[in-house]
Amino acid sequence: MTAETPEPNLDPSTIAARAGWSPDFITRPSSPPVYLTTAFDIESLEQLDAVAGGQEKGYIYTRDGNPNHEAFANDVARLEGAEAGVVTASGMGALTAVLMAMVKTGEHVVAARVLYGRTGQLLNHLASSFGLKVTYFDIDDLDALKAAIAVPTRLCIVESISNPLLEIADLPAIAQILGEIPLLVDSTFATPCLLKPISQGATLVWHSASKYLNGHGDLMAGVVVGPKNLIRRIRAMSSLYGVNSNPFESWLAARGLRSLPLRMNRVSQTALQVATFLQSVPQVSRVVYPGLKDHPHFERAKQCLPHGCGGMLAFELPGGRAAVDTLFRHLAHIIPFSPTLADSRTTVSYPAGTSHKFMTAAERAACGISDGLVRLSIGLEDPADLQRELGAALAKT
Ligand SMILES: Cc1ncc(COP(=O)(O)O)c(C=O)c1O
Repeated sequence: MTAETPEPNLDPSTIAARAGWSPDFITRPSSPPVYLTTAFDIESLEQLDAVAGGQEKGYIYTRDGNPNHEAFANDVARLEGAEAGVVTASGMGALTAVLMAMVKTGEHVVAARVLYGRTGQLLNHLASSFGLKVTYFDIDDLDALKAAIAVPTRLCIVESISNPLLEIADLPAIAQILGEIPLLVDSTFATPCLLKPISQGATLVWHSASKYLNGHGDLMAGVVVGPKNLIRRIRAMSSLYGVNSNPFESWLAARGLRSLPLRMNRVSQTALQVATFLQSVPQVSRVVYPGLKDHPHFERAKQCLPHGCGGMLAFELPGGRAAVDTLFRHLAHIIPFSPTLADSRTTVSYPAGTSHKFMTAAERAACGISDGLVRLSIGLEDPADLQRELGAALAKT
């Protein structure tokens, strides 16, 4: 199969299985080539103007665009139901490019209180160093959101499934309150296989593509998708600030994307089994998973996530940091402590010491992130093997 013309109404698994292709791959390799090139030769000044102006398809300089970047970004856009996309050096690169394109000094953004720690840290940095105004709100307090946007607001930032407490945002309700204010959704934990924020009122969706979209723990990349006019501005900022991806990372991300639907299905099933198992372990005081009845958003999850709640879960040890340390030392065989998520391997992480360490202890407490909270990223292993290792290690805490 070569340069494919996208067909309408394909199942996500069919779209994903073909990830990484670009219409100009005309030499018919069975795997897409990697365009490891800094720049592209140009026939004439006339052609330079036509490509730069968008009248002619082509590429000039890899920081601005490259077939591997375009292929991956288009695949994600298609899966998310968006018009266009841009791939960046990391998830944080994607957020940086969006913020540089959408907000200016003195302007106001609202953001969910529980977010990936570095997202909050970047907003706080822009507030203290560049005069951005930021108001945080609890995602279930829609009156607080209404009050916050009484001040002219340029952007609202939420996570569809929050890191690390797996809160599910009521995106249609938030979008309705926002009206014309753009809604930017981090959908790293959900992926388009479980939830499509644009169909629920989001304007832009971004991912740490280093996580599920790639799924093999071997690259750094980010991606943003949304309307063409905004993506054009965001791509320009990505290029200006140099947070562009590189061709091999984009190629790897597209390769990983091909198995995304299968992986999301598998991790959702295993996570529910492991979460149910952890509820029966006496050393665990709380299990957080939206597929469990006692999760505050269980009913919302049933509605918004009909294909499963994903592979992330969290649990708490009453013994705090010392108990977590003992647990990690005893998870010696198949579950490493690795400060990432969505690898093919199951991994554990410690939000208070990694993803959310840049918050103060009081800020973490306000978000429900205690010193005994462990984040578990379920991989592709056999659930019984995971339960055996977790049960044995937890018994030592
Ligand atoms: C939910 C979420 N969003 C964004 C990011 C940032 O992505 P990256 O590490 O690719 O910059 C992360 C990283 O862990 C994340 O978990």
